[in-house]
Amino acid sequence: MKHPICLITGATEGVGKVTALELAKKGFTIVVAARNASKAQAVVEEIETSTGNTSCDHIVADLGSLGQVRQLAERFRRRYSTLDVLINNAGVLVPTRTATEDGYETMFQVNYLSPFLLTNLLLEELQRSEQGRVINLTSSAYARGKFDPQTIQSDASFSVLGTYAATKLYVLMFTEELARRLTGTSVTANAVHPGIVRTRMMLQAPGTLRLVAYLSLPFSISPFKGARTSVYLASSPELKGISGQYFTKSKRAAVKNKFDTAENRALLWDLSLNAAEKGAATGARRAS
Ligand SMILES: NC(=O)c1ccc[n+]([C@@H]2O[C@H](COP(=O)([O-])OP(=O)(O)OC[C@H]3O[C@@H](n4cnc5c(N)ncnc54)[C@H](OP(=O)(O)O)[C@@H]3O)[C@@H](O)[C@H]2O)c1
Repeated sequence: MKHPICLITGATEGVGKVTALELAKKGFTIVVAARNASKAQAVVEEIETSTGNTSCDHIVADLGSLGQVRQLAERFRRRYSTLDVLINNAGVLVPTRTATEDGYETMFQVNYLSPFLLTNLLLEELQRSEQGRVINLTSSAYARGKFDPQTIQSDASFSVLGTYAATKLYVLMFTEELARRLTGTSVTANAVHPGIVRTRMMLQAPGTLRLVAYLSLPFSISPFKGARTSVYLASSPELKGISGQYFTKSKRAAVKNKFDTAENRALLWDLSLNAAEKGAATGARRAS
């Protein structure tokens, strides 16, 4: 592929920004999907100036809105017919239970449901690529995540780490289920834990997590190192055909979580489809 097209979320900061810059250096056309238009424009300019790659673009969309995710896919489709790499990188850690305009818990929607919807909306474009790749940012925190089909968006219980961990477990389960469903196509899906990375998410972590983050500083890595696995998954020819895997430090790692079963993955997929459709139908419904 001469100038593969990469759509990346969360490239205005941290791991995503470095990933976008590194892929632009490798000749990718970068499409930055971001909620803040001026930050997106600034990143595009920075990528173009520092890499000399002037084929960068941006689309504004807040992942806290399923309507905006649908518009993002539509706008992408109007400008490009093929998508070579989709990197669902954006993520948040919020201190208390807050609701999006669709009425879902914020981390559930931004970290998981919106990437799930965006990926599904762009499958045709991914399948038009010679080897479409979906790269989903999870976290090693997934290991602490729980899956309860009765309450997938922490209705009853909210804790910063518990809810974040659940969303990252869902990202992993979704990646594995997507890979299974894409068997026999040219599209692959893999998940990444970037490491403990010195980004805004870590350095400004809410509540007691801030203390944990500061205690982890000696073991943390730079955003440049944190982006390496995503860049490797997006660009390495040796990854062709590798799908449904969890990567960290550019190597496959075993997934260990008792909730990550074939049955639960299929169940989560159906519940997520339902949640994405319900969000679209209810529009600006707000949770109490
Ligand atoms: N840092 C770590 O130690 C670590 C560890 C494991 C996994 N991860 C994962 O790695 C990914 C990148 O994290 P990071 O550390 O680079 O975080 P970060 O520096 O805080 O950057 C997060 C990015 O997500 C975007 N974002 C947040 N909410 C959004 C929304 N509603 N709509 C659209 N974009 C939104 C932010 O946009 P704005 O600029 O507009 O805020 C920003 O570009 C995340 O998925 C995170 O969970 C990070």
